[in-house]
Amino acid sequence: MMEDMTRALPQREPLPGLPPRVTIYEVGARDGLQNEKSVVPAQVKAEFITRLLAAGLETVETTSFVSPKWVPQLADASDLLSELGEAGKGPRRPVLVPNERGLDRAMESGVDAVAIFGSATETFAQKNLGRSLAESVEMFRPVVRRSREAGMWVRAYVSMCFGDPWEGPVPVTRVADACVSLMELGCDQLSLGDTIGTGTPGHVEALLAELDRRGLGTDRIGVHFHDTYGQALSNTLTALRAGVSVVDASTGGLGGCPYAKSATGNLATEDLVWMLDGAGVETGVDLDVLVATSTWMAEQLGRPSPSRVVKALAGA
Ligand code: HMG
Ligand code: MG
Repeated sequence: MMEDMTRALPQREPLPGLPPRVTIYEVGARDGLQNEKSVVPAQVKAEFITRLLAAGLETVETTSFVSPKWVPQLADASDLLSELGEAGKGPRRPVLVPNERGLDRAMESGVDAVAIFGSATETFAQKNLGRSLAESVEMFRPVVRRSREAGMWVRAYVSMCFGDPWEGPVPVTRVADACVSLMELGCDQLSLGDTIGTGTPGHVEALLAELDRRGLGTDRIGVHFHDTYGQALSNTLTALRAGVSVVDASTGGLGGCPYAKSATGNLATEDLVWMLDGAGVETGVDLDVLVATSTWMAEQLGRPSPSRVVKALAGA
């Protein structure tokens, strides 16, 4: 007689050289949704975040306090945070903030953690922030100073760390310059953005080595890979082996950047959890609850999740 089939599980074999626990920095509600053409109601966003938390994700970026003219999808940031109440507060619920106007709005909503977002290239600084690199650092300076004074946790994203669609390859020394200039403002954590997904493992290792030489060790670094060319997991594994233990991911693989030509979804959180479960690395995430969340979100958005793990498990 046939036994009932349980869902497929990754074969568990500990992989030496990895951290025992990885912090997943979930960006689905922000990076995942910011590119959606039709506006997702704040109640649906709040339910998405509530489900992400129920799946065991502890660090969840909720939204952006940017200009509503630039990113209409996230114009409802204040409404979303009042919808979330206490669940939207604390050092593990960051929001993106580009300028003092955004910080004022974020503070009114009671947030305790912010992320500034700079660039490794001049072209993307202009496209994403309407400013030069130097001008954008000056825009962020008072944001970081006031956030620190208020006791907030501060992250610095740097985009185009592994290539730029307008400028092409970006030398690791230039990326490191951009990283250092933002971290010197007083940020707690740096996130290395592969905005268009062109990074490959050797490049990841080279950038981490250069940052280490410049005094930025892996204990202060997170990695943020987009999966455009299917490299996000191998890049992640490379970063973990180099000592990184914070990985950005987006549930269901949603995402993209409205101001970066050819940017597609982030590394899917489910794909990451599958690999880490198999390698014996703790994440605290319940994969089944997460897949159910992606399936639900895909229904809200009207199209299936691009995550391989969601596709394989959703029907199982
Ligand atoms: P600007 O146009 O230079 O600013 O934008 P401005 O001061 O001239 O303001 C324009 C209008 O927006 C004004 O309104 C301001 O009041 C208003 P008006 O007077 O015309 O009615 N405004 C704001 N309103 C609400 N909140 C604010 C705010 N700021 C201005 N905070 C700015 C400069 C930086 C604000 C703009 O360029 C902007 O919002 N850019 C954000 C773009 C963005 O969110 N991109 C996606 C996130 S980055 C990303 O996805 C990459 C990442 O995932 C890592 C990776 O993958 O690489 C993080
Ligand atoms: Mg991104």
